[in-house]
Amino acid sequence: MILVTGGAGFIGSNFVLQWLATEGTPVVNLDKLTYAGNLRNLASLEGDPRHCFVRGDIGDRALVAHLLEAHQPRAIVNFAAESHVDRSIRGPEDFIQTNVVGTFHLLEEARAYHAGLSGPAHAGFRFLHVSTDEVYGSLGAHDPAFTEATAYAPNSPYSASKAASDHLVRAYHHTYGLPVLTTNCSNNYGPFQFPEKLIPLMILNALRGQALPVYGDGLNVRDWLYVDDHCSAIRRVLAHGRVGETYNIGGGNEMTNLEVVKTVCALLDEARPLPAGRSYASLIQFVEDRAGHDRRYAIDAGKIERELGFRPAESFESGIRKTVAWYLDHPAWVESVTSGEYVKWVAAHYGT
Ligand code: NAD
Ligand code: DAU
Repeated sequence: MILVTGGAGFIGSNFVLQWLATEGTPVVNLDKLTYAGNLRNLASLEGDPRHCFVRGDIGDRALVAHLLEAHQPRAIVNFAAESHVDRSIRGPEDFIQTNVVGTFHLLEEARAYHAGLSGPAHAGFRFLHVSTDEVYGSLGAHDPAFTEATAYAPNSPYSASKAASDHLVRAYHHTYGLPVLTTNCSNNYGPFQFPEKLIPLMILNALRGQALPVYGDGLNVRDWLYVDDHCSAIRRVLAHGRVGETYNIGGGNEMTNLEVVKTVCALLDEARPLPAGRSYASLIQFVEDRAGHDRRYAIDAGKIERELGFRPAESFESGIRKTVAWYLDHPAWVESVTSGEYVKWVAAHYGT
């Protein structure tokens, strides 16, 4: 049994599905179901006794204490977070509350639970904290990629809140001996990603004939990793990672945003051609830049490859093809997430 938090979100739900298909041991899934959490992601698990979903907050200490006591998990994998940089710029409060205060409460309960374990259960317990490459800040075009030794320099309220949580996780190991592991991963893409993020936003806007809003000059660089590969890496770290260590995870796919958007457009041109040979790329519009927009992220994933033998299975070409096909094949899922809160966000952030 493991306790997964945030397992109804994009990466968390992919992780729960992969975990049950591979490891197969039961999962308790604690998720607050914010706008980003969606039980439809887990619809294929309906009736599966190995999946126990609990709606709740990682900051609810009584609930977390109860779940730990009742289910006696051998690990906690913490995905729960506010995850969207633009939202953190418009309103940082929820980011501080969940990413910092929530993680603190979760750590406190994990510490108490771990202290009460004995023998192999005590020795084998792990707290795996899922973090981001954004904590390292922004790189220049020719700077070397982030390693695990790169100093933290977060630039957005989101990355600052993730950095704060990483520091707490580290401190709970050094001070209290909590057996922690931290992963810092680059940009994920794939099924079930909420369409506020670049790739699904571009796919859905293009299909609706709406503008494709590229921030600034479109030359900011991100490293893209297919979500299944991230989930495999987390399983590897959980199984074999050295306690107290951090592991960078990346896809080895550095691309400008413009390259990514044009790739999406080319795949849509192939799958859903527009009349008169027009390309979806004609919908690209350069819009006002994100405040404090980090220019480039790049991951040196040498440590996880050397120590744990992990390398991504998917190339960007194969992963993005699968992703575009997934969104085309799941209109009901898209419909379910692009109403209500989503409409409000798009109107507030992009105007009309
Ligand atoms: P997401 O926004 O899609 O999902 C977050 C999930 O956490 C949602 O299901 C939400 O309901 C839940 N949640 C939020 N606040 C909660 C709370 N207080 N208690 C319980 N549940 C809560 O995010 P994601 O993209 O799946 O990211 C998951 C994790 O991975 C985050 O910690 C994020 O920082 C990290 N990460 C994301 C990426 C990426 O590219 N998306 C890359 C590296 C690291
Ligand atoms: O690097 C890992 C991080 O990747 C994760 O920690 C975050 O949770 C995740 O959201 C992601 O952050 P980014 O800010 O890089 O992702 P986003 O999809 O929001 O944006 C990717 C790039 O595309 C970024 O340079 C901003 C740009 N962009 C984004 C949107 C939504 C646009 O040009 N237009 C847009 O409309």
